[in-house]
Amino acid sequence: MKERLQQLQQEALEKIAQASDLKALNDVRVAYLGKKGPITEVLRGMGALSPEERPIMGALANEVRAAIQSALEEKQAKLEQEEIEKKLASEAIDVTLPGRPVRLGNHHPLTRVIEEIEDLFIGMGYTIAEGPEVEKDYYNFEALNLPKGHPARDMQDSFYITEEILLRTHTSPVQARTMEKHQGRGPVKIICPGKVYRRDNDDATHSHQFTQIEGLVVDENIRMSDLKGTLQAFAKKMFGEDREIRFRPSFFPFTEPSVEVDVSCFNCGGHGCNVCKGTGWIEILGAGMVHPNVLEMAGFDSKKYTGFAFGMGPERIAMLKYGIDDIRHFYQNDLRFLQQFNRA
Ligand code: PHE
Repeated sequence: MKERLQQLQQEALEKIAQASDLKALNDVRVAYLGKKGPITEVLRGMGALSPEERPIMGALANEVRAAIQSALEEKQAKLEQEEIEKKLASEAIDVTLPGRPVRLGNHHPLTRVIEEIEDLFIGMGYTIAEGPEVEKDYYNFEALNLPKGHPARDMQDSFYITEEILLRTHTSPVQARTMEKHQGRGPVKIICPGKVYRRDNDDATHSHQFTQIEGLVVDENIRMSDLKGTLQAFAKKMFGEDREIRFRPSFFPFTEPSVEVDVSCFNCGGHGCNVCKGTGWIEILGAGMVHPNVLEMAGFDSKKYTGFAFGMGPERIAMLKYGIDDIRHFYQNDLRFLQQFNRA
């Protein structure tokens, strides 16, 4: 029995030494120390021993068991350590490798111009209004003094969705919506930036989708001189302190009188160059005094209230400001174009 126990210890220690991973080690543990293992087996034969031998064998069996146990523990600690080291090695980061450059995005030039214009008008006490791009014929045309069949509707070829619904052709419907919300009470002082849609063939100066910024002020005693002063301040902030503006008579069904507004050329200062096509002036927006019909339709008393409105195209302003020669650059998202507007 003694030899058998010593032999078992020998065997177990060899197997423990050979075990190359934790699973193999556990197999050895189960095989030698388990309930059905050979040591238990041997101890079962103790009954056949003399009473003097029994405690001696018992003690020996315990020693063998303890020796196997401690060999197992030692090996287990070693294997676990190895595993941790392997894991650390595989997860090691070479901090000396050069980093990957992080490409910083930036605001789109149009966004930039729109935000600049927004800031400017917010500084003059305006708030920002918004309206839907999918708009009712009523707000896009009718409420703006363009009844069905009005010849001026031909000025804007529209994307109709149904007979009564279309993609807005300008941001002016937000005028009508905003006034309606005010329920006949002034003051109204808003600008509205947003996308608009027209059935144009895309080329260097036309796009089927572009942006506009609408402005609207309605209150008692609003006069054309207020419009002029406001746009003058805008032109100076946007294009330089020396800029002047001029009004030319024009026509929009929703304003009366209507004007087209020019700014003195920021390139040549008004002497005439290729930017202003030799005239010294550059057209930047359309504007006018809100037509009494428009005020009345939106619930304002046109005897008490007057107002002015203007509409401009951020694309055109960005093209002038940055010398961009093709409106399509704004929509193609060519990084070579966009990155020119990156600021540190
Ligand atoms: N909505 C007009 C356009 O798209 C611009 C405009 C707005 C004119 C407000 C006058 C007043 O051409």
